[in-house]
Order: sequence, then structure tokens, then C-alpha cells
Amino acid sequence: MHIHVLGAAAGGGFPQWNCNCFNCDGLRKGTIKASKRTQSSICVSGDGVNWVLFNASPDVLQQIQDFAPLQPGRNIRDSGIQAIVLIDAQIDHTTGLFMLREGKVKREIYCTDMVYEDLTSGNQILNILGYYCGINRHDVPIDGNTTFEIPSVPNLKFTAVALKSAAPPYSPHRNDPHPGDTIGVLIEEISTGRKCWYSPGLGEIEPHLPPLMCQADCIMVDGTFWTNTEMIDMGLMTKTARSIGHNPQSGEGGMIEKLNEFGNARKVLIHINNTNPILREDSAERAELTRYGIEVAYDGMDIIL
Ligand code: MLT
Ligand code: MN
Ligand code: ZN
Repeated sequence: MHIHVLGAAAGGGFPQWNCNCFNCDGLRKGTIKASKRTQSSICVSGDGVNWVLFNASPDVLQQIQDFAPLQPGRNIRDSGIQAIVLIDAQIDHTTGLFMLREGKVKREIYCTDMVYEDLTSGNQILNILGYYCGINRHDVPIDGNTTFEIPSVPNLKFTAVALKSAAPPYSPHRNDPHPGDTIGVLIEEISTGRKCWYSPGLGEIEPHLPPLMCQADCIMVDGTFWTNTEMIDMGLMTKTARSIGHNPQSGEGGMIEKLNEFGNARKVLIHINNTNPILREDSAERAELTRYGIEVAYDGMDIIL
């Protein structure tokens, strides 16, 4: 299985257009050791030719330009992207769909009922695509048992599960969480049995998750914030990380502690907010991750399982 990180940053990217935090300012000025990152997305293939895009980032056009296997190569209109799985309805994971509106072949969209509802009501993006390429929407089962396959992306199968999270700010049920607002996915390469767990938005590792996560050869999870109060401490937001669906890395019950329970799997943090000190390659926080064998995803990272 080939996993390619198209964008490793959380919403806003790194640096964020209007952000003057230590990291964003330092990256612009070249005074910190870090590299820029686009917004959250990966693509995965089981044959190296046909790819499933996980989330459609606002930066998707740049991401396609930076990864040749997704570019047209066979027909006058063509793409390596055969299907798109949406793990939630957040802006940073969906607005790239506007950029993928050209062509006569319908986009194959896989999402839960809750995400479909948000993307046809609070944010009408899937309705609007109907005026361009159109979509074929497929339901994603979230019982954690039912696997599904995507016919145009051979040699992969998927098991999705509901995660504790919050629907996007524009959602009619923002403050009334429903199963399927956010999912995690276990991706399996059929020919090899190799597996990757992917959950860029993960508020809490609830008891139903370890049985799926412990099967994975690689665990890619939410790396948004270092502390639960990161945005509050910086005066940028009044909400905690956990309350907006992102379990922080440090502290009791944090990602470092939780990931330690998953033995030998490769552990990778993704969807990293621009305020997070782990973006600085020489920070104490990055060194702590390294001590625990946890990697920080970057744009262009290839994981071959
Ligand atoms: C999130 O991951 O919490 C959201 O993408 C935040 C945002 O929309 O900026
Ligand atoms: Mn996000
Ligand atoms: Zn910033």
C-alpha cells in the first residue's frame, strides 16, 4: 500500500494567511527550523495507478501539481484520483471539491449520512457540484464491522467507525454531536493484508477504537494541538482542543500516552495546527515525540506498507 501525504497541516495551513504566531512568523522569516505545510489530505493506492483521495483540501490543486501519480496521463480528461472519501464535513476537508468540478465524469464521493447532510444543507457544496461534474454519493458504514471496497481503486478495502467529535461550525447540529460527524478508517491492502489507520480528527480514543487501531501497521492520527489549552493560552480561541474534537499530544490521556499502547506500529501525527511547537524540528516537544517513536507528517511524505 502506498500512502502519500498531500497536506499535513490543520485548517489554515502553515503558515496561515492571517497568523502572526511564533511559528507562522518564524517560518515566513526563516528564523525557525520548519517547513511549510498545506491543509489536511492523503491519497492511498493499492496498485500505484488508481488512488483514493482522503479529504479534498482547499490546497488540492497545488497538491496534485506536486504529486505526479494524480495527474492526467491517459486521456484528454483524466486523473489518478478515482474516488474521494470524506472523513468529516469540515471546511479544510471538503472545499477542495469546488476545485475538482471540471469534467463530465461524476465524482465518486464516499461519506456518512451526517456528512452528506451537512454538505447538502449548511454547506451546499455537493448540491453545487451537481451543476458541474455531478456526484455519485456512496454511504460509508460506520459500525466498525462492515468493510467496503471502492471498485475503481482495486486492492484496498476499508472499515470505518464513528469518532467522538464536533460537526463543523456551520452545521445545523454543531452542538448536538451525531455518530458519523467524523470517522476513522482502517485501510487494508487486500493482497498483502497490510493496514493503515487514519483519523486526522480524533477527540478521544474511545473503547471501540483500539480493536481496529491495534491491527494497523501504521497509525496516522490527529496531531492538531500539543496542549488542550493551546489556542486559549495564545489568545486565539476560547475553546479547548478536546471540545473541538482534537485530543492534544501532551498530558494525561493525551496522544503520546495513548499511542504508547500500540506497540510496534509506525505512529504518525497529521493535521498539525500552525501553533503547535512540534512543527519546529529542534523543539523540546518534537524531541519528546521522537523519544516515543512518534513521527510528524510533512507534505510529500510517502509511507509504503
Ligand atoms: C477542525 O479540524 O477543527 C476544523 O477544520 C477547523 C477549521 O475549520 O478551521
Ligand atoms: Mn480540520
Ligand atoms: Zn500561526
